[in-house]
Amino acid sequence: MVALVTGGAGFIGSHLVEALLREGYSVAVLDDMSTGRRENLSGVEGRIVLHRMSVLSRDLGQVLRDVEVVFHLAAQVNVRRSVEEPAYDLKVNALGTLNLLEQGRDVERFIYASSGGAVYGEPRYLPVDEEHPTDPISPYGASKLAGEKYVQLYGYNYGLKYAILRYANVYGERQDPRGEAGVIAIFLDRLGRGLPLEVFGTGEQTRDYVYVGDVVLATLRALKQEGVFNIGTGTETSVNQLIEVIQRVTGIVPDVRYLPPRSGEVKRICLSTTRAQDVLGFRARVALQEGIARLWRTPG
Ligand SMILES: NC(=O)c1ccc[n+]([C@@H]2O[C@H](COP(=O)([O-])OP(=O)(O)OC[C@H]3O[C@@H](n4cnc5c(N)ncnc54)[C@H](O)[C@@H]3O)[C@@H](O)[C@H]2O)c1
Repeated sequence: MVALVTGGAGFIGSHLVEALLREGYSVAVLDDMSTGRRENLSGVEGRIVLHRMSVLSRDLGQVLRDVEVVFHLAAQVNVRRSVEEPAYDLKVNALGTLNLLEQGRDVERFIYASSGGAVYGEPRYLPVDEEHPTDPISPYGASKLAGEKYVQLYGYNYGLKYAILRYANVYGERQDPRGEAGVIAIFLDRLGRGLPLEVFGTGEQTRDYVYVGDVVLATLRALKQEGVFNIGTGTETSVNQLIEVIQRVTGIVPDVRYLPPRSGEVKRICLSTTRAQDVLGFRARVALQEGIARLWRTPG
């Protein structure tokens, strides 16, 4: 089975590539290396084909030849950048998805990485299930949702088999602390360098933190099912609680600085796990404290 992972040189994508190789897939990666890094794929060098190109390219035909399943993870993932450059964000996330779908009409299956933290907007109830209205409050949320709609459209019009996975806040090894998405990576990095932890707002805003290994597991399970699935833990954790867990794991009392809140970020979110559990048989295995302990132990 030949799988293409777009965004495969990125944080989640590189973990997925490793898992697919373990499962016996032939794996190709398409990545423009805008935030992806070659080192992320150093463990699989020589075992994958790496296409350094954009999902916006007109020449995806060559890349897609023989591909049976596409895991589409390539995206502009920075919420701040989506506010500053909404047209660029739309181009990569929505047009890029459409371009891939259009040139990949012959693929058997399409798995789309969406964002549970962005497409629902400010939740009307918690935990948020897949039937919750989608009212994004950032350009990033709007462009990821537009990508979902095109995937569904190709299912409807051309019979494409697809799964849309709305990931919660993913954390784990290889997450870039220089980015702005991964608060856990940023906090551990700053703590390691003796710097204060910066919290935007009161720290009472909540997220659903899910370990990357669990996300990869769920993504593989989605190969056998179709539909829209939240992929999270169902547990709501505030930034202040997160800091307490980090303190417990590391034994370091961090210096915490509170800064004004940022726009485009929801106050609370936590994803219902019921459908993923019932249909995919997926349940997150790694608890937050255990995940953070793994990261803290990982050198570098
Ligand atoms: N990290 C999270 O918490 C999270 C949560 C929800 C959803 N997601 C989704 O998961 C996917 C992967 O996110 P990540 O956290 O691994 O981010 P990442 O930035 O590490 O990975 C994205 C990858 O896409 C590549 N890319 C960007 N623009 C491209 C383009 N035009 N053409 C080809 N490649 C391009 C980047 O170089 C990078 O390797 C994204 O679709 C994101 O929206 C992530």
